[in-house]
Amino acid sequence: MKKVIVLSGSIREGRKSHFVAQFINKKLQETNQINATLLDLKEYPFPIMETRMNETDAPPERLGEFSTLLSQSDGIIIVSPEYKNGIPGALKNALDYLDPQIFKHIPLGIVTVTSGGFGGLYCLSQLRLVGLALGGIPIPEKLCVSMINEVFDAFGTLQEPSFNKKVNEFIKAFLWYVERFSF
Ligand SMILES: Cc1cc2nc3c(=O)[nH]c(=O)nc-3n(C[C@H](O)[C@H](O)[C@H](O)COP(=O)(O)O)c2cc1C
Repeated sequence: MKKVIVLSGSIREGRKSHFVAQFINKKLQETNQINATLLDLKEYPFPIMETRMNETDAPPERLGEFSTLLSQSDGIIIVSPEYKNGIPGALKNALDYLDPQIFKHIPLGIVTVTSGGFGGLYCLSQLRLVGLALGGIPIPEKLCVSMINEVFDAFGTLQEPSFNKKVNEFIKAFLWYVERFSF
């Protein structure tokens, strides 16, 4: 079975984009075609990067595990909030640790989340560039989630039925690339 990692990129107390990551991960698991794993950045509190992973004998705890989970997958979905018109610092910091080309031949689905109405398009375009720098293949399809507080309630229960359809379409598109790009 193909392995997909859903990387949840917000470590903020009270984060809302994590609901989206959990929802997508559950949907992937329900396909019964995919071995989906939720990789929660909040469980990997890496310090600010001073030395890249491939240049140090003393990497941060669990960085190796984080890197291996991503690099040994057949597809990665990154779920990220947009902060200050860009990628959250904690997520970029974690990605900066990784070896160049570590995502080679891996399709990347990017999902951005905002509480406002623009869905995180700046973050989407920045994450696509970062994904390319890691050797990955950002897919053209996107899922930009606006008004997150109307999509899920404070407990993570879906409030907006149309979101289900959008996620299904995004997953379908993403899995097309996973099937074709993996051996
Ligand atoms: C430091 C910070 C910066 C933010 N900058 C933006 C922004 O540039 N654009 C935007 O639409 N929302 C911005 N937001 C609001 C997020 O869209 C909102 O927090 C949303 O719930 C997604 O982030 P979360 O997963 O951390 O909850 C910002 C939030 C924080 C905490």
